[in-house]
Amino acid sequence: MNRVAATRPDWSTAASWPARLDFLGFGGDYNPEQWPRSVRSEDIDLMREAGVSVVSVGIFSWALLEPVEGEHDFGWLDEVMDNLHGAGVRVALSTATAAPPAWLTRKHPEILPRLSDGTTLWPGSRRHYSPSSPAYQYHAQRITRVVAERYKNHPALALWHLDNELGAHVSEFYDDDSAAAFRRWLENRYGTIEELNRAWGTAFWSQHYAEFEEILPPRATPTSINPTQRLDFQRFSSWSLLEFYRGLVSVIREVTPGIPATTNLMATTATKSMDYFSWAGDLDVVANDHYLVAADPERHIELAFSADLTRGIAGGNPWILMEHSTSAVNWQPRNRAKTPNEMRRNSLAHVARGADAVMFFQWRQSLSGAEKFHSALVPHAGTDTRMWREVVDLGRAVRSLESVRGSRVDADVAIVFDYEAWWAIELDSHPSNEIAYLDTMRAYHRALWLRGISADIVHPEADLSRYKLVLVCSLYLVTDVAAANIARAAKRGASVLVTYFSGIVDENDHVRPGGYPGAFRELLGVRTEEFYPLLADQSVVLSDGSIGTVWSEHMHLEGAEALVRFTDSPLTDVPALTRKAAGDGHAWYVATALDSEAVGALTDALLTESGVLPAVQAPAGVEVTRRRRDDGTCFLFAVNHTAADATIACEGTELLTGVEAAGTLLVPAGAVVVVQESSLAP
Ligand code: GAL
Repeated sequence: MNRVAATRPDWSTAASWPARLDFLGFGGDYNPEQWPRSVRSEDIDLMREAGVSVVSVGIFSWALLEPVEGEHDFGWLDEVMDNLHGAGVRVALSTATAAPPAWLTRKHPEILPRLSDGTTLWPGSRRHYSPSSPAYQYHAQRITRVVAERYKNHPALALWHLDNELGAHVSEFYDDDSAAAFRRWLENRYGTIEELNRAWGTAFWSQHYAEFEEILPPRATPTSINPTQRLDFQRFSSWSLLEFYRGLVSVIREVTPGIPATTNLMATTATKSMDYFSWAGDLDVVANDHYLVAADPERHIELAFSADLTRGIAGGNPWILMEHSTSAVNWQPRNRAKTPNEMRRNSLAHVARGADAVMFFQWRQSLSGAEKFHSALVPHAGTDTRMWREVVDLGRAVRSLESVRGSRVDADVAIVFDYEAWWAIELDSHPSNEIAYLDTMRAYHRALWLRGISADIVHPEADLSRYKLVLVCSLYLVTDVAAANIARAAKRGASVLVTYFSGIVDENDHVRPGGYPGAFRELLGVRTEEFYPLLADQSVVLSDGSIGTVWSEHMHLEGAEALVRFTDSPLTDVPALTRKAAGDGHAWYVATALDSEAVGALTDALLTESGVLPAVQAPAGVEVTRRRRDDGTCFLFAVNHTAADATIACEGTELLTGVEAAGTLLVPAGAVVVVQESSLAP
């Protein structure tokens, strides 16, 4: 163990600086500290065999890099970095801050996170720190600087992987440091306590505050907590994690201004607490982790949803798939192994939706620790396994897709997605607790997926001008700016669908008076006087025979026409689905959760009206997308999720096999094809 400065090797003259990710990446998390040198040396041989081009290193290494405060041991990491470089593998180097070492939390127990009921989360696993702790911020930035200074000239360094999955496991922190930071954040947001009182509606239940110092995070209370306080705490929590990232990235930018930095997001998987749209501007490249939900029979469609959201967060730019699994995970109630070729379909489906790197957790399956039954590229059983053969094949496939890198996914449809609306709609004391923000959105996304239509999932204030169809699902909270943006899309010629319980409140969670759906009333030409939420086992029959669940409402037409009506008492003959001309486009409103067949029929009607076509006609269960380079070169992806061979119409070169497609191409059962198209697609 040595002080840093004394032993740092001189990498300053090494070739290929500055190293970047100038290839379609293939690799994953690499945790060499868990293995003896002999295994690490075999790792290098196997990485060459599999064509691994990038690995994330050092994510959970702090306790080994600095076992005692101020004393560092970089010998093993130097060797790993050098060996990776020798094998041509680039490194996404972590700041090692995702798990504080024991000496640090012993010295500063106030770093430990606290839940809303006061429970302290102790060391023994990982991520046991509060991002607002000044002591943790200080030490995390300090170790980041030490690591950055040491490896700033290392030729393998291509990317900074800051911390890891910020907000995973715990994303809201109720400790005293967080409480103080929350008060500062509120002061900054509102300026005066009067303004906060107005925004939080504190005339209610004697919640008025005389000064900011009286305010607490929404800790456990006897009954419903002030909803705006809750909403602001979610905003603050997302910001506090981002602010922690910003502290680390400021060190990184100072020490290595030429190396891009990112952190791995968890779009849809673990938590809804981080507003990733507000994070994107601080990431040099968006990176996402995705794990299939074993219990979901349509997990490949959920994968598509996550990828489409990641692309939306990335503003349509290519992104990095930083983690997924080769097979089973270890943290679901039943951890299902992937079937033959399923990994390949999963990995390449992410590429089909904009990923420019295919990375996994993790390189070699651990022998000890909580993740020893999590799959990896090198399984416990070794290389004479289907898994290893599929890994080597996938590496080859990724290399053959190099020309796809940098291209963008074609999408004529936008699905509007807002974290703040998600937080707000799922607060308590609402007409119904049955409304899960993602449910309606996933239902319409699924209908699009089944029809071969790609959708960008975008923020409500994003530029919507290029979309022919815009879906606005249960956007309960909406700002005036976003509502005007959506209305503008319709006026410019798009078809806009708004679903129930949208437009209800402003950014302070205050109801927009005069009738629902508040912010969208004029656009839609409807006015609702009362909600009739449905009980858990209740449904309603609509005039076209379809079934509604979850929701119904007493709506009046104010310029719209009714296409479908409720038929059941007490809403007999009340409109359930409406349409209104709006400028050059149309605005549709649906006032219930339609059954999946009806969602499909409505989607068909919207696609016809807006003129949106699939990337190519394909049989059911064959996922199709198109990526397009700036020079117009197009890549048609088809992922066959079925057990039957399929045929698609296309012309060009199939990149995985080199086969020429002249008119049609076979997509074998369970296989993926990627065609570089010879004629420019329209
Ligand atoms: C991720 C995490 C990895 C690993 C993986 C297992 O959430 O970033 O370190 O734990 O899950 O699926």
